[in-house]
Amino acid sequence: MNTHETTRTAAAGAAGRAQRQWWRNAVIYQIYPRSFADSDGDGIGDLPGITARLDHLVELGVDAVWLSPFYPSPQADAGYDVADYRDVDAVFGRLEDIDKLLLRAHARGLRVIVDLVPNHTSSAHPWFAEALAAGPGSAARQRYIFRDGRGADGDQPPNGWRSVFGGPAWTRVTSSDGKPGQWYLHLFDAGQPDLNWDHPEVRAEFREILRFWLDRGVDGFRVDVAHGLIKQADLAEWHYPEEPLSVEPVEGPRPPMWDQDGVHEIYRDWREIVDSYPGDRVLVAEAWVQPAERLAAYVRPDEMHQAFNFEYLEAPWTATAQYAVIDRSLAATGAVGAPTTWVLSNHDVLRHASRLGLPVGTRRPRGIGADDPQPDGALGLRRARAATLLMLALPGSAYLYQGEELGLPEHTTMPDEARQDPTWQRSGGAERGRDGCRVPIPWEADAPSYGFGPTDASWLPQPPVWAEYALDRQRGVAGSTYELYRTALRLRRELGLGDGRLEWVDSPDDVLAFRTGDLLVVTNFGAEPAELPAGAEPVHTSAPLDPDGRIPTDVTVWARA
Ligand code: GLC
Ligand code: MG
Repeated sequence: MNTHETTRTAAAGAAGRAQRQWWRNAVIYQIYPRSFADSDGDGIGDLPGITARLDHLVELGVDAVWLSPFYPSPQADAGYDVADYRDVDAVFGRLEDIDKLLLRAHARGLRVIVDLVPNHTSSAHPWFAEALAAGPGSAARQRYIFRDGRGADGDQPPNGWRSVFGGPAWTRVTSSDGKPGQWYLHLFDAGQPDLNWDHPEVRAEFREILRFWLDRGVDGFRVDVAHGLIKQADLAEWHYPEEPLSVEPVEGPRPPMWDQDGVHEIYRDWREIVDSYPGDRVLVAEAWVQPAERLAAYVRPDEMHQAFNFEYLEAPWTATAQYAVIDRSLAATGAVGAPTTWVLSNHDVLRHASRLGLPVGTRRPRGIGADDPQPDGALGLRRARAATLLMLALPGSAYLYQGEELGLPEHTTMPDEARQDPTWQRSGGAERGRDGCRVPIPWEADAPSYGFGPTDASWLPQPPVWAEYALDRQRGVAGSTYELYRTALRLRRELGLGDGRLEWVDSPDDVLAFRTGDLLVVTNFGAEPAELPAGAEPVHTSAPLDPDGRIPTDVTVWARA
């Protein structure tokens, strides 16, 4: 810690301590680098693009950003297939661009979290090339999960595990003599071989990767597929379909590839490393684990700081379901002393402005195509605004996904030829996949690529409705989704809502109401208008109240009471 920081902390006392645990109440904005801002006009967003747009995030009022992967990668899974953990892909810039981004972000008081992908490397990683060259039984193959096939010729995969993206989770390699060889495990794309986390070299390598980025000044890591690193040693047979980017309860025993108890010692080890650095750096788990109590194990005091609350993201739009998930989440993380987190959208799920426009209770689709039932856009946006206002009043930390502050819908009519998510190919066209939430975002209605970059190029096609949602159409416009977010984030900070204590308030069945500090928060899920208690003064609403002051359907109100 430098002198300046010591003095400041000592003077600030308890307030200083609270501030050092910035993550307990932080609003963290996810940037998907491919689709945020393109500086060079190649149609793919990049690091200089992000740096040039940092003032947007300051104006919006978030505390930190999380950057999805920007590392060298063949992009078999949009960068979640990492070929070199210590560099930047040329498509996104150079290592110096990260330094510049960190410097500029920190100068604006924004923290920066980067994505760490430890479950698998890219098949283009030097370790994998080494493993292929070295052959069966070699030390190099031990870093991955290679097995002989079943059947007389070994032409059956070692077990029946399925890839998350569809198809078998095993691919057979060709031996140096040209004959078919062993099989390797990949829970995701064939270009993403799973690492063997029982191997000391794998553990040692990731400790060094953490240090590499901590030394460069990042404020933490979002840990990809944190529930997948350890597999049950016998790779026991598992015949259920894969639903891991989802927390729907599956029948039967815990899957042998997810949420094994052995993952926790890895995170305890990492926590020591992260804590050995000044500046309150954090680890955030992407773990599709349920129930909430099992997820809470990832954020025990000596493990990670936060875990995404996907049960919240998946909860249906009813007062009962929302009450249950909020209450259970607060209890589960409270029991281990961690902040609860809240999230409605990210780069893997249908944007919530579209998801909430599907009939209540619809199972979350993995992508929507032009010939699928289409969401009700107006209803979806109305509910999305109410959901966001509800979320931003909750105590703990909230995650926003780029473009949701504009009310962006999913691109639900993208031509199939344009799709890039491996899910589309691997599922044989059964699943549309995640491209619809990854479309480059609109900044200026009348500019080429809606201001995404200096040219018309865009790696995924932008729909014409993007003009309506562009930032410059919403900035300073009363009632716009952008101004709704800005005001909410300002009030959240002023009123200390992230550090609040939630107290439920009795309300009719279709209404959710709670108090946090001086604020009363009410969401009306019912068909009939709901009453605001006499004397309550609305300070922010997701849509106008009725002329008589009652709360219409699908509206959230923040009121002083
Ligand atoms: C995580 C990422 C997702 C990726 C997968 C494999 O779930 O969020 O985008 O496809 O891991 O790395
Ligand atoms: Mg570019």
